[in-house]
Amino acid sequence: MCTRARRATLTTAAQRPWTDEQPQRAAFSAAVALRQTLMWASRRERIKKLVTKAPISRTLVHRFVAGESVHDAVDVTRTLSAQGLTVSLDHLGEDTRDAATATAAVAAYQQLVGLLHAEGLAASAEVSVKLSALGQALDQQMALENARFICVAARESATTVTIDMEDHTTTDSTLRILNELRADFPSTGAVIQASLRRSEEDCTMLAAPGSRVRLCKGAYQEPATVAWQTREEVRRAFVRCLRVLVAGRAYPMVATHDPKLISATRSMLHELAPELPHEYQMLYGIRANEQLRLVGAGERVRVYVPFGTQWYSYLVRRMAERPANLGLVLRAVVSHG
Ligand code: FDA
Repeated sequence: MCTRARRATLTTAAQRPWTDEQPQRAAFSAAVALRQTLMWASRRERIKKLVTKAPISRTLVHRFVAGESVHDAVDVTRTLSAQGLTVSLDHLGEDTRDAATATAAVAAYQQLVGLLHAEGLAASAEVSVKLSALGQALDQQMALENARFICVAARESATTVTIDMEDHTTTDSTLRILNELRADFPSTGAVIQASLRRSEEDCTMLAAPGSRVRLCKGAYQEPATVAWQTREEVRRAFVRCLRVLVAGRAYPMVATHDPKLISATRSMLHELAPELPHEYQMLYGIRANEQLRLVGAGERVRVYVPFGTQWYSYLVRRMAERPANLGLVLRAVVSHG
């Protein structure tokens, strides 16, 4: 997902304090130190250059990113669709600081949805959009107008848009823009981060029949004043948020790779709303077998597929979530340093 790397460092529950899981304290400290190092490295231009130029990085990137062009994105969509998966495509780029870059992002999405339609893939693929890529930090009205252009193109191509959620300083603005978009494009998807303390309330607001809401843990390291900090707290908050969405007959898009939450979702739906339409969502390159297992079990599964040239921040976030992957990047740096 997404970052304002200069303003917010990223983490997942895997890096949060496991105060309720004593034996894992040492591992947690190591993970925190590693993540801090990673986030420090992500801000060093020299390291960024080394990593982006190293051939091994390309291999690693292709595990998590469809490629750099719109055509790469369409090719991956075709492959995943053939496996019974659906897709949400994210044009990489965030924290846009000038109007021209935001306009270019809009053009990329317009081209993408046009191609999806032309290739007969629009029924199985939608797009995910970060408002920061559309100029949210510069001018909220501009971001809204840009998002509108994308929604118009998506509607003409018979597909939908989901608005990604970024760090907590943007939540109000993002929900406000989402509501404005939904007035004209009711199918626009929202994202709620279970880790934020406010999220149950936000779910209550969004929990209406047909309301498309992606529920995820949240990818940003947020302060304790606004966010749950431990792995178990976040899991419990996720389940509470899901219960609100299910009770309101929203369309939950359960975005997690966490086996405990996938199983909790299945039990909750079985118990409370067996007929409620819903889907699971996972990231491209992560738990691909589980994605197919769920499809085989009759579930609708959507894979979040990023593409574009601005893949560095996205890659660093995936490394921060899973330090085991870091070795590959370090090797890339050392062999070219
Ligand atoms: P957790 O991190 O605990 O992972 C559970 C298991 O999944 C791990 O044990 C491991 O097996 C596997 N796994 C997870 N990450 C891995 C990795 N990088 N490499 C290899 N294996 C890995 N966030 C946000 O703030 N705003 C947003 O808009 C979105 N959008 C979004 C869309 C979709 C489709 C998904 C799946 C996620 C997001 N997120 C997001 C990110 C989300 O908030 C969260 O950071 C990640 O999904 C990781 O959390 P999990 O729930 O998967 O649990």
